[in-house]
Amino acid sequence: MRVADRVALVTGASSGIGAALAERLAADGARLVVTGRDAERLHQVAERTGAKAVVADLVADGASGVGTLLDALPARPALVVHCAGAGAAGPLAELAPARADELIDLNLRAPIQLTRALLPDLQAERGHLVFVASIAALGVAGEAVYSATKAGLRGFADAVRIEAPEIGVTTVLPGAVDTPYFGRRGREYDRRFPRPIRADRVAEEIARGIRRDAVEVVTPRWLALGARVHGAAPALFARASRRFG
Ligand SMILES: NC(=O)c1ccc[n+]([C@@H]2O[C@H](COP(=O)([O-])OP(=O)(O)OC[C@H]3O[C@@H](n4cnc5c(N)ncnc54)[C@H](OP(=O)(O)O)[C@@H]3O)[C@@H](O)[C@H]2O)c1
Repeated sequence: MRVADRVALVTGASSGIGAALAERLAADGARLVVTGRDAERLHQVAERTGAKAVVADLVADGASGVGTLLDALPARPALVVHCAGAGAAGPLAELAPARADELIDLNLRAPIQLTRALLPDLQAERGHLVFVASIAALGVAGEAVYSATKAGLRGFADAVRIEAPEIGVTTVLPGAVDTPYFGRRGREYDRRFPRPIRADRVAEEIARGIRRDAVEVVTPRWLALGARVHGAAPALFARASRRFG
């Protein structure tokens, strides 16, 4: 779809990929609504993009965080990008139960509830949904709950795509991206390869995916090979993943 002059909601727009995507969509002429928790950073993004800023915590406020956002929408959205998300690194048995719940609430429950509420609007607009999942949806050791939320998001997107053929549904599976994400998950990115890619490159790929109604965007693109191996030979994928990380 074309975003010019249409209302576009981007969650997680106060930082990283969401902030870069807000700038990209603003350049394409979208009427933006951006949301995040950090009011100062969010308002900076809103100033740069001419967006309406809605401060909302999609976890702490429970269902009312989603409600705040829905109440603040100026008009029916034609595009909804679910980008808000967080990770947690470390062995599963050492993950605090409350942190596991937070990840599920933010990465999975909030996008499900927002989509449920906005689907009729998106259908009326013949609009588009974007779910920013992760290549971790294939399963990453030391990030089991995060992986589960992203795999859940991918499955949800697949089902909505079939149930609502009037709209486009794009799932995004990025590899490592250079954003504050790693610091916030409790362990900095420390691999030599692959190097993290820039958030504006991911934003560019997402914008192209929206224009072309792509089902999945894997970025960097060579990671799509991993997704194919995972689909065709999950045991081989697990062995290779254990060996090469
Ligand atoms: N960076 C990577 O390597 C990578 C790779 C694959 C997928 N992803 C996914 O890409 C998405 C964006 O991540 P990023 O890399 O841009 O990380 P980021 O810079 O840490 O941005 C995360 C965004 O989520 C928002 N957020 C966090 N908790 C929230 C809450 N409780 N309520 C509302 N908003 C909340 C943050 O808002 P505040 O800053 O205002 O708190 C921020 O805008 C996430 O879904 C992440 O899982 C990232």
